[in-house]
Amino acid sequence: MSETKLAAWWQRGVIYQIYPRSFADANGDGVGDLRGIAEHLDYLNDGTDSSLGVAAIWLSPFYRSPMADFGYDIADYTDVDPLFGTMEDFDRLLGEAKRRGMRVIVDWVPNHTSDQHPWFVKSASGRNSAKRDWYVWRDPAPDGGPPNNWRSSFAAVGPAWTFHEATGQYYLHSFAPQQPDLNWDNPEVEAAMHEVLRFWLNRGVDGFRIDAIYRLAKDPELRDNEPGLRHDEDWPTIHQRLRKIRAVIDEYENRVIVGEVYLLDLRRLVEYINTGDELHLAHNFVFFHLPWQAAAFRASVREFTELAEQSAWPAWFLENHDHSRVATRYTDEPGTGQRRARTAAMLVCTLRGTPFLYYGQELGLPDADIPPDRVLDVDGRDPERSPMPWRRPSLAGAGAGFTTADPWLPVVAAAESLCVESQQQDPGSTLAFVRELTHLRSREPALQSGTQHPVSAASGVFCYERELDRRFLVALNFRSDRVPLSLGDHARGSAFLELSTHPGREHGAVGLRDLVLEPDEGLILRLSEGGEDRS
Ligand code: NOJ
Repeated sequence: MSETKLAAWWQRGVIYQIYPRSFADANGDGVGDLRGIAEHLDYLNDGTDSSLGVAAIWLSPFYRSPMADFGYDIADYTDVDPLFGTMEDFDRLLGEAKRRGMRVIVDWVPNHTSDQHPWFVKSASGRNSAKRDWYVWRDPAPDGGPPNNWRSSFAAVGPAWTFHEATGQYYLHSFAPQQPDLNWDNPEVEAAMHEVLRFWLNRGVDGFRIDAIYRLAKDPELRDNEPGLRHDEDWPTIHQRLRKIRAVIDEYENRVIVGEVYLLDLRRLVEYINTGDELHLAHNFVFFHLPWQAAAFRASVREFTELAEQSAWPAWFLENHDHSRVATRYTDEPGTGQRRARTAAMLVCTLRGTPFLYYGQELGLPDADIPPDRVLDVDGRDPERSPMPWRRPSLAGAGAGFTTADPWLPVVAAAESLCVESQQQDPGSTLAFVRELTHLRSREPALQSGTQHPVSAASGVFCYERELDRRFLVALNFRSDRVPLSLGDHARGSAFLELSTHPGREHGAVGLRDLVLEPDEGLILRLSEGGEDRS
């Protein structure tokens, strides 16, 4: 799809990730659930500017699970875990989201099941089990150790193999031992997992976020990883496998697949989106891991743009449930976290491509402090999964409106000022800013699907133009001091300042030549032909 006003829904709007355990608890057990999400849909999109106006929600897993990896270990792909509710709750949530014009994307976890999934139970029951080959079983190495040197993605787990006493073989798990890898070289596995897609598509979901897609093809000979060459991921067979997944999606209209392509090499990432018959969108972890420097973002966006086909569509995100939040990881001195959270939101929502926001990002939430006796996750990811603070703890108690019980993880220390209730009353809040940002994007086709060109500006400032029916200039100061914008040719004339991350900045006509950016400030300026404001 090239620059056109007729972009698809998943190109136009913001996609908002919900981690169901942490969004809202309706049944008072301290853990978020589907009813809780349904009760807060107006916050996400009620059709007016006083909501976030998101186009779609992506729900992390809510399927039946023993919760060894908080839902990414699935024991039944086609049922709702009682902790999160019932299938009726899901259908109601889907219907209510659609009634508000929002699409619903669900997580699909094809690389591994839970060790309690009936398929694995059967597979582990004996070497001659009909399901033995649905997982990856191998004899021990001659010394009795694991069959090769592959490691789990979770550092604390160590080897990607666990020995199964009863049958005398090891099984593969790219993540926790409770998450055995399915054997995608077996066509029966592939067919069964395609049926899972159809189950949810038939129920009416609008698409899938595909967990660990780059892990779905491994060296069938299971050779050792070598320096610079991994045999446990991104094997060439991935692309044929992905085409077959896409063919299932394309049996239905207007659906989308976004893949977790955790490869820190943009040349390999774009292969998942460039051919047009694989992923629609790929989460870009190179971008995600950049340091807070204009030059790093500018160079990475340029590299992506050069490598991606014109028809391929980017996706941008800086937060998810696996990594420290922006307001914490980009903080180097007090006060920078909130400022940078706004500028980071402006970046992902104005670059050409689909923006993803993670629940609480619109509040500028930092990571929560987790006392040692409350640590739950094997991979240290509790801080970014802290419950959504809806109300002031001084009024609503320690659950901050997320729950009436003890929350499963502590809420952030600054919940009193950062909660939705407090920010809603403050026109200078991060929440108020993000709402203006998402609504500006929704009103302006140029910010959705316009062309994008880098513009040279002061060092430390990342600046680019977006153009379709109108022209916008986005300028992001990554420095902690004030800096004149210093545009070259663009400096002629004036522009209309649509939005700033800086609460004190007045909107309206501005002279481009004299513009000075505040520390970490981001601006969206509307230009007219020749740089003159035409408002
Ligand atoms: C990636 C998910 O985002 C993460 O939360 C999970 O632990 C692993 N895949 C395994 O499913």
